[in-house]
Amino acid sequence: MAVLATRIAPASPAAISEAAALLAAGELVAFPTETVYGLGADATNDRAVAKLYAAKERPSFNPLIAHVADLAAARRLAQFDAEALKLAEVCWPGPLTLVLPKLHDCSVGQLATAGLDTVAVRVPDHPIARDILAAFGKPVVAPSANRSGCVSPTLAQHVHADLAGRVALIIDDGPSPLGVESTILARLGRMVLLRPGAISRATVEGILGHDVASATIAPDNGRPVAPGMLASHYAPRSALRMNAVTVAPGEALLAFGPTLPQDAGNARIILNLSDRGELVEAAANLFNYLRALDGSGVNSIAVVPVPNEDLGEAINDRLRHAAAPRRPRDSTAYSGLETLRSGITS
Ligand code: TXA
Ligand code: MG
Repeated sequence: MAVLATRIAPASPAAISEAAALLAAGELVAFPTETVYGLGADATNDRAVAKLYAAKERPSFNPLIAHVADLAAARRLAQFDAEALKLAEVCWPGPLTLVLPKLHDCSVGQLATAGLDTVAVRVPDHPIARDILAAFGKPVVAPSANRSGCVSPTLAQHVHADLAGRVALIIDDGPSPLGVESTILARLGRMVLLRPGAISRATVEGILGHDVASATIAPDNGRPVAPGMLASHYAPRSALRMNAVTVAPGEALLAFGPTLPQDAGNARIILNLSDRGELVEAAANLFNYLRALDGSGVNSIAVVPVPNEDLGEAINDRLRHAAAPRRPRDSTAYSGLETLRSGITS
């Protein structure tokens, strides 16, 4: 892979025009969204998408989200039924991704959707992301701008740490306001939750007027349907213990709320996701703090219990992934495209 000079530019109209020009030239641009920083490429250009998979070291059958400027643009890519339309109308622009049947003339390339007959679409709610999409005028695939298997970036500096030399431009607009990725819903017969995220399940259920099941596993064959749900996807190097009520000497402590475990004094370093016990604040701090503790040289991170309500469901999901036993970065949990196809479309 050619090594690029990576520039970090503060958000500005000039940086937005430059981003659009780089995308049009088949280059990669990292930019802020309201959830996490994304690594963008022209969704219609398979060479650009291949470059993106290479930069992330991502298994190439892991499909990407196409980001578009508005619902009208999304409807040129995917088939919306009444429920999808309702969700889009209430939640977009915002942190909701819909996996829907691809239209015949969908411009998103086969590589971006990993050969599936569905496409993931989202209209982000961040002024810089929206300006780039408007200036570029075509769908932009944007996975989180980290190397595959690492925690998602919520600062331009995180992107630089993971992808320097692999991306032409990083647009810096400060910390990601939400800090966890979008909620992913898929039309698999019924509407199911593939990834808990920044919009809570309760909100989605309120909009639809019925319960929504989780479907990380295909009901018929037991295979995972969203490859991003690989058990160790969000993986710090240190071991991570969830629901910790005690702290071992030398561990790092990731706290939540005003009350620390009694033996918190054992911790080498303590960060608190939210002193006040607020889940929104905790989500915004999550990846940043995980990186900071991971970088502090400890072998283990103890994480106190986080309530599993509202944004807590997404936070606990990311923590579970971070706590899962490691797989070598390049190993693939899937036998290939066929596995994915049967998992998602049947
Ligand atoms: O908040 C977000 O969604 C961020 C920002 C940058 O927009 N993006 C993001 O993308 O989290 P990524 O690529 O890290 O996660 C996308 C997830 C993956 O788990 C992928 O497998 C799943 O979406 N996905 C994409 N297309 C799919 C499809 N057709 N069927 C099932 N899962 C799909
Ligand atoms: Mg990701």
